Amino acid sequence: MSRKRGRIVGTGMAVPDRVLTNAELEKMVDTSDEWITSRSGIKERRIAAADESLSTFALPASERALEMAGIPGREVEVVICATVTPDMPFPATATLIQDRIGARRATAFDVAAGCTGFIYALGIAEQFIESGFARTVLVIGGEILSKVVDWTDRSTCVLFGDGAGAVVLSAGDDGRGILGSAMHADGSMADLIYLPGGGSKHPPSPEVYARNLTTIKMRGNETFKIAVRSLAEVSDEALRSCGLGHGDVDWFIPHQANRRIIDAVGERLEIRDGHTYVNIERYGNTSAASIPIALDELNRAGQVEPGHILLFSAFGAGLTWGASVVRW
Ligand code: ACO
Repeated sequence: MSRKRGRIVGTGMAVPDRVLTNAELEKMVDTSDEWITSRSGIKERRIAAADESLSTFALPASERALEMAGIPGREVEVVICATVTPDMPFPATATLIQDRIGARRATAFDVAAGCTGFIYALGIAEQFIESGFARTVLVIGGEILSKVVDWTDRSTCVLFGDGAGAVVLSAGDDGRGILGSAMHADGSMADLIYLPGGGSKHPPSPEVYARNLTTIKMRGNETFKIAVRSLAEVSDEALRSCGLGHGDVDWFIPHQANRRIIDAVGERLEIRDGHTYVNIERYGNTSAASIPIALDELNRAGQVEPGHILLFSAFGAGLTWGASVVRW
């Protein structure tokens, strides 16, 4: 009997209705559709309304994934929500989802690993399943970055968007599922992408708001260079860990931070033409949500076939980076 693995048996996503286009951003900051499109590949992004929060989207994304899996919420044993923009600092948004899907006996917690959050959460879920602790795990990646973006800073506000994606993992020993993963962090570069205020170091106060500490700060250009190298290396590492090579990848589903990063990494990994999934033009960078949203779109379009090898890789705040390899 082969090793027990977490098979992805359901996917789901949900995004806000409100679309914010590059043309609208041209009226808000000194930018242009031409600059945003050529530098990032983004044309539009989804933005949550004032009364919407992460769970507004994480819940329907989870319900859609469970419905596809044909698994009732009460059977879920672990709920992991990857996010840096939870509904509240605590309790974890995962517990709100656990309650709403009726997973009465589940373990539930959030994972904060920036844009790499979904990869980290998948890696943790894999450990729960392989160890026999759980047979059914719900993994969510979701963000409401629009509420922590500085809408006067053209170097960041054009990049981010909101949404959530989810997958249901079910234990099986038929060779399908998560074959391997690699996850890394380097906190010495924490100040490349960070949100300084709102935590215990700079708790919310009029002064913290006046100093604009409650919005995302990013040194994009430096991040860009490290991202390309790290994504290629960690993807290689994850593939090697399960005895696979570049040519085995049927679908490369990278974190959607920048079209140029995706193209550069795809080139280094020699991903075959037409085998990289890109939707950044419609959603921008949704951080931990970008891979599960992309996966759900590709899956529902009928493009993922049994036996396909999927490579996910992501890079983000921390710095953190990681990759997972899945046999569908
Ligand atoms: N419109 C017009 N001009 C702009 C804009 C804008 N929206 N933003 C910046 N510029 C200007 C800059 O001021 C700069 O002008 P200067 O040359 O006069 O100083 C010029 O454009 C070039 O700026 P760069 O930052 O060098 O542009 P770059 O080509 O690096 O693109 C970008 C910027 C898109 C941010 C890119 O660096 C990037 O994608 N970086 C990686 C981001 C990333 O992967 N983050 C990780 C995930 S985030 C997370 O974990 C939450």
